[in-house]
Amino acid sequence: MTEWQKSNWRNKPRIQMPDYPDAAALTSVEAQLSKYPPLVFAGEARKLKKALGAASRGEAFLLQGGDCAEAFDQFSANAIRDTFKVMLQMAMVLTYGAKVPVVKVGRMAGQFAKPRSAPTEVVNGLELPSYRGDIINELEPTLEARIPRPEKMLQAYLQAAATLNLLRAFSTGGYADVHQVHSWTLGFTESEKASRFRDMAARISDTLDFMKAAGLDSAARHELQTVDFYTSHEALLLEYEEALCRNDSTSGKWLAGSGHMIWIGDRTRQPDGAHVEFCRGVLNPIGLKCGPTTTADDLKVLMKKLNPENEAGKLTLIARFGAGKVGEHLPRLVKAVREEGANVVWVCDPMHGNTIKSSSGYKTRPFDSVLREVREFFGVHKAEGTIPGGVHFEMTGQDVTECTGGVHAVSDEDLSDRYHTACDPRLNASQSLELAFLVAEELSNLRLERQAAAV
Ligand code: PEP
Ligand code: CO
Repeated sequence: MTEWQKSNWRNKPRIQMPDYPDAAALTSVEAQLSKYPPLVFAGEARKLKKALGAASRGEAFLLQGGDCAEAFDQFSANAIRDTFKVMLQMAMVLTYGAKVPVVKVGRMAGQFAKPRSAPTEVVNGLELPSYRGDIINELEPTLEARIPRPEKMLQAYLQAAATLNLLRAFSTGGYADVHQVHSWTLGFTESEKASRFRDMAARISDTLDFMKAAGLDSAARHELQTVDFYTSHEALLLEYEEALCRNDSTSGKWLAGSGHMIWIGDRTRQPDGAHVEFCRGVLNPIGLKCGPTTTADDLKVLMKKLNPENEAGKLTLIARFGAGKVGEHLPRLVKAVREEGANVVWVCDPMHGNTIKSSSGYKTRPFDSVLREVREFFGVHKAEGTIPGGVHFEMTGQDVTECTGGVHAVSDEDLSDRYHTACDPRLNASQSLELAFLVAEELSNLRLERQAAAV
């Protein structure tokens, strides 16, 4: 294989990327971005890789979540805070219930570019280029708004930098201090699960009081008062990714400076395509979405390309088959991994295989299908003796009505109330919390079974 270079993807077939009509503007934006500071540091990406390595062995569990698409007009401190808050709550439920450290990774600070099922769409009788995310064009259904504009990359970079700045402040500045566990509850998540969370918070507070009284808390002060929170997004817009790619002077390796972890989508995982070519050369942990059309042969080639040294934590396989289909597809991919002796983290994305059109016309996801896919994922790993390493959700801290079902039983008719997503439907805060309790239960059963087997 020829030596990897950050621009070599340009010689490979590319799909799902815009053709910018203004080539001069594109060159100028790329030149600007390549002078800007990277958003993340190589040491952080390495630390995340190590944490994911632990998840591959069942010694930690990945919680990855956030918007389907971040949007310029929904950018606010409160929105960032609320998603961060729900993730802290979910992580607490998982840690407390499953007794494993939770690796927290947001689909945040860079999740702007979207693959689409068709290049055009018809709105009110007008055929338009599809919306591809705020980093590329605009959602407004006019020809003008749908023109891809390179300057949008600069705005996305600024939003990502400000988002990451706030996330870092929340993570280490006192907000994520476990002593604040009571204050993470969101006002509108009143439900049986919210009261279950409050009970858990009360028990945690009790334990903390005990630790303090016994003089045990000072040694663990840093662990109790701060969290590690990482960012991730789909590496779809390769001009943006290349412009933020930096050489790490300590190792001589290349870092995707746009986020801690990047992933390859289900539509752009061609082994000889541009996206795989870019991602194979960076030191960051890489995610690979695996859908029903992923073949065992492709997966084998991809694992060799994306994790040539077979490092633990380097490659995360994000299974997204759809409820009812996990039993058909996951075992054949598990077999391919086993045959290669490959190190991977198995993660369940129960969102992207469960999107349907509701009777009211909205794109939605039935919460029951989401739950079912998670259960099936755990079931297959149990049968195969392999390790479920994490979950990947599209979710928000906002009180939206985008997925049907859940404790508040959002119906098809309710979808229009608060349907704010620019792309796919997200779980709201109560649905996210409910899901966390389910996953915690699955993990805790697994732990008890392992303990029983060890006796
Ligand atoms: C996504 O994660 O938003 C996405 C488009 O997923 P997939 O590539 O799995 O369809
Ligand atoms: Co999505």
